[in-house]
Amino acid sequence: MLRPLRIGDEADVLAYRGREDVCRYLTNVPLDETTVESFIAARTSATRIVEDGDRILLAVELDGRVIGDVRIRAGKMCDRQGEIGWVFHPEHHGRGYATEAARELVHMAFDDLGMHRVWAQLDPRNFASARVCERLGMRQEAHLREESWLKSEWGDLAIYAILQNEWRGL
Ligand SMILES: CC(C)(COP(=O)(O)OP(=O)(O)OC[C@H]1O[C@@H](n2cnc3c(N)ncnc32)[C@H](O)[C@@H]1OP(=O)(O)O)[C@@H](O)C(=O)NCCC(=O)NCCS
Repeated sequence: MLRPLRIGDEADVLAYRGREDVCRYLTNVPLDETTVESFIAARTSATRIVEDGDRILLAVELDGRVIGDVRIRAGKMCDRQGEIGWVFHPEHHGRGYATEAARELVHMAFDDLGMHRVWAQLDPRNFASARVCERLGMRQEAHLREESWLKSEWGDLAIYAILQNEWRGL
């Protein structure tokens, strides 16, 4: 089930977003007991996209526990572009949950929010994340070399995207 994050999800979210391995390719550092509270508080209202920069962040719930989260973020509303992302607990990797949740996000982006293009950015070493993009039918559009200084090293960046008419054709 996809639903907004809410106060009370702290322990579940900390169980995956508090891990070094989960955060390896994220710009975020692992959450701790304190920061998980502000992380969730800042996102409980991320439920609609009506203005530039708005985002929707959804918890992925399985058997009453939050096992991951997915999000879509708008840039300028007039551009109708949505950036999507996903983070899951390693105990629930390899079962298609990220792909299934992300597919709903793309469906929502095109069919409910009227987006024109959906895109994702990721570290090219993050093969699992790249495979989620590919399973959604997204195409790799760029590989930027050493475009950021992240976690004490230069990081490459890959851009994946799919257009609304390509999604309809799938
Ligand atoms: C990125 C991330 C969400 C991908 O998770 P994942 O478990 O590989 O993705 P899915 O849940 O979609 O599972 C897909 C795998 O399950 C398998 N699978 C099993 N049943 C499946 C089904 N019904 N449907 C689709 N895939 C299924 C697929 O074959 C695939 O395995 P493969 O990659 O060996 O081919 C995960 O690695 C993660 O949370 N990483 C840490 C955070 C992160 O880096 N986020 C991305 C930042 S850009």
